[in-house]
Amino acid sequence: MCGIIGYIGPQSTVEVLLGGLKRLEYRGYDSAGIATAHDGTLHVLRSQGKLDNLERQVGSRPMEGHYGLGHTRWATHGRPNEENAHPHRDCTKTLVVVHNGIIENYLDLKSRLSAEGHRFVTETDTEVIAHLLEKHFRSDLEQAVMETLKELDGVFAFATLSARQPDTLVGARNGPPLVVGLGEGESFLASDIPAFLSHTRSVMYLDDGEVAVLTPDGLRLVSHEGKEIKREPARITWDPIQVEKQGYKHFMLKEINEQPRAVRDTLLGRYSLDTGRIHLDETGLDDDSLKRTRKISLIACGTSWHAALVGKFLIENIARIPVEVDIASEFRYRNPILGPDDLVVGISQSGETADTLAALKATRDRGVTTLAICNVLGSMATRICTGTLYTHAGPEIGVASTKSFTTQLVALYLLAFKLAQIRGHLSPEESQNVLAEIARAAHVMEQTLLLAETLEGIAREFHLASNFLYLARGPLYPIALEGALKLKELSYIHAEGYPAGEMKHGPIALIDGRMPVVVLALTGLLFEKTANNIQEAKARGARIIAFATEGDRRLEQILDEDRDHLVFLPEHPELISPLIAVVPLQLLAYHISVARGCDVDQPRNLAKSVTVE
Ligand code: F6R
Repeated sequence: MCGIIGYIGPQSTVEVLLGGLKRLEYRGYDSAGIATAHDGTLHVLRSQGKLDNLERQVGSRPMEGHYGLGHTRWATHGRPNEENAHPHRDCTKTLVVVHNGIIENYLDLKSRLSAEGHRFVTETDTEVIAHLLEKHFRSDLEQAVMETLKELDGVFAFATLSARQPDTLVGARNGPPLVVGLGEGESFLASDIPAFLSHTRSVMYLDDGEVAVLTPDGLRLVSHEGKEIKREPARITWDPIQVEKQGYKHFMLKEINEQPRAVRDTLLGRYSLDTGRIHLDETGLDDDSLKRTRKISLIACGTSWHAALVGKFLIENIARIPVEVDIASEFRYRNPILGPDDLVVGISQSGETADTLAALKATRDRGVTTLAICNVLGSMATRICTGTLYTHAGPEIGVASTKSFTTQLVALYLLAFKLAQIRGHLSPEESQNVLAEIARAAHVMEQTLLLAETLEGIAREFHLASNFLYLARGPLYPIALEGALKLKELSYIHAEGYPAGEMKHGPIALIDGRMPVVVLALTGLLFEKTANNIQEAKARGARIIAFATEGDRRLEQILDEDRDHLVFLPEHPELISPLIAVVPLQLLAYHISVARGCDVDQPRNLAKSVTVE
């Protein structure tokens, strides 16, 4: 939700800012803007819509300066027009601010500041920060930020630059992420690492309640109370090339195809096939506390919640521990019953989803052990939780989650196996067997990706449908939900995922001759029952797109060659079916979206990191 970039250094500031915004556009693309300080003046350019619009403006009105700020917006307060685009200015137009998050007391502040004579020109909550900074600025921007922070309520990260002290950038964090990049004679401030990854891999995360002051002399970190903080920079292993499209038409397609690599990386070094042992020491959760665990709660949002639903099947089946699954925005307000021997696992690609973070914080404050399953090193979820199990998907730029989902599943398999071993539900020999099965997943995924052309053909046939139904059972039911979500967000086609057995309790009323029904009917996994559901749907005129397992031709007797489609997934162990079955559904949604001419990597109204409630 909104991306911030700041730069101090000798390079062309505008180029650095635009390059950074390109990498941050996944966070929002309602408008974009930049500001630079040059010769005691601030130059600001802003544009409604995607970054291309701003780039066109910059092309015709070059800007100079060695200090600058940029912003890409996902609108919360105020329409997505140019007027509400960041950076926002104070009355004197000598100070700019870019902001990610929500200032909850902005109406009170706005009326107070207006009464004091400040003139507001936008509908945003952000503008109050600019006027507060103006009010508190005497000779030092850092001091103005400190005073301003005392008046702000809400979750926010912001950065500011003043023409009256142009060699200083100040950023403050209270919720959404801010990370500093430290290069040779230059520094960066951004919402996420890819914004400056092509310039430096030396990074320092700000914690909540911290302020970063960037000058040509380097970086100073202080708490909101003004206390100096010392911290060593971390070195990021992500390669800048990973945030490029590398010849693919879209990031999403690249990321779908990266899944075998991402799955291998997430498994790497975490198990031994020889001994059957799982190594999750990095989580910091010791075997004794895992052994004592009486109940597990998995909390997440969106696609990560779908991973949690699969996790319930895995952990309950393999480790025999009761698991509750909650959508984080519900969990945080429902006063859940938690005991000292519970484990709460927050699943989040970004590690910065506001609801997941709030749920984890509330849990931690009740003294309950928390584990983050997360893709972003040092992100907030990893800082809140007792321990972290990292997924190694690498940077995910496409707004729709793909490789982060499959690597979350891998982390959940490992957790389930580990818990099962500690509690005596998996012998070393059984462990070796299940590990051998999971080790095959990447290879089976590679074979599954070869179905892309078949799915592109099906997509062309169905891309004008208005509704889709996705059906599956057991651990594949969450995959049906995920398939439907991918289709909705990418192609704007209405789609519902349902447990196949639930279809006749309502959704069947939706079915007519225009309704494609996607069914996961893999071998095992209650195949016969799912086949019955296909019959029921067909009896109401549905056109079926069924996924079955190679070698199992039973559905051929049910389906019509001229109306339906039967796609065979490579033969694989039933245990890993969720990992395999999601791949063709991602591809189907991708190709339908392309056929409809939609913006695959940046679907309307969405942002990758939802850092507001
Ligand atoms: C859908 C999607 C979202 C995210 C959700 C949680 O494709 O990407 O539903 O899964 O916003 O995000 P994280 O995992 O970063 O907490």
